[in-house]
Amino acid sequence: MNKKIITPPIKSQGIKTKLVPWIMDLAPKVSGKWIEPFLGTGVVAFNSGYKDAILNDTNPHIINFYKGVQSGKITAALMKQYLETEGSILSNAGDNGYDHYRFVKTRFNEDFSPYDFIFLSRAGFNGMMRFNKKGKWNIPFCKKPDRFAQAYVTKITNQLANVNQVIQPEPNWQFLNRSFAEIIPMAAENDIIYCDPPYYGRYVDYFNGWSEADEKLLFSLLKETKAKFVLSTWHHNNWRENEMISRYWDKFNIVTKDHFYHSGGKVENRQTVVEALVCNFDITEFNAHNHGHQEKAKQLTAF
Ligand SMILES: C[S@@+](CC[C@H](N)C(=O)[O-])C[C@H]1O[C@@H](n2cnc3c(N)ncnc32)[C@H](O)[C@@H]1O
Repeated sequence: MNKKIITPPIKSQGIKTKLVPWIMDLAPKVSGKWIEPFLGTGVVAFNSGYKDAILNDTNPHIINFYKGVQSGKITAALMKQYLETEGSILSNAGDNGYDHYRFVKTRFNEDFSPYDFIFLSRAGFNGMMRFNKKGKWNIPFCKKPDRFAQAYVTKITNQLANVNQVIQPEPNWQFLNRSFAEIIPMAAENDIIYCDPPYYGRYVDYFNGWSEADEKLLFSLLKETKAKFVLSTWHHNNWRENEMISRYWDKFNIVTKDHFYHSGGKVENRQTVVEALVCNFDITEFNAHNHGHQEKAKQLTAF
């Protein structure tokens, strides 16, 4: 898969942009729907190429934003206007821009505007997304008062326009704000489910609490499904193994890949992690580890 990746306007520390080619190469093309119970930024869905999809997340801000794009209420032109206005206030605001970041954060935490959501996602520290115990935005400012310079505004509005091109109208693409437990049973035999749940033992916030009971429920739902599924999880890092693999997931097929996560508060989260894809279909033709590396080695020796 050498296609250019469509990058969404929302950012988060768990974004799978770099892993999209690996995921899409593994996922078999099916005749039914693409079902994604843990949508996050949407980067995998937007590159899936499916005309029919069920896209779900418990985070209402993500779903609200994409529903707004789908209905035509949120457009690239309106976003450009909004970011130019707010960006110019930011660059002149006191405390090196922080005063205006705080102002937008307070406004968002009161009325949850999808435009302010993008502002915070793009002007927050390290492109992180985190909500506190009360469900309020909880990321500090990136400390760049000129964050929304023209080139950056253009980049974000282009991302929105690109996403708008692939989002299909209702009822083909349905954006839902429920728990994964209600979504997985919707899958039919000819559908494919891609699951990217919060990683057990790694990162928790208001919308990303994840216990072993959740992992177990996810396992039993995926064990029961007649659809094909691909699940992203972590396999191990330099310190430890993901105990959920031997407890649940190694009953299925697993492929792995080294991956470097760039952002994250904890030092542990900044290191190389071996990512895993777990699936319920035959993968004998697929590289067991580090997909894509052999092809590169072959190319190099050919010249
Ligand atoms: C690791 S992120 C997904 C990242 C996504 N694949 C991407 O590339 O941006 C996990 C997502 O699951 C959502 N989530 C957490 N608990 C959930 C639940 N019980 N049901 C559905 N979604 C949930 C979170 O809000 C978060 O957006």
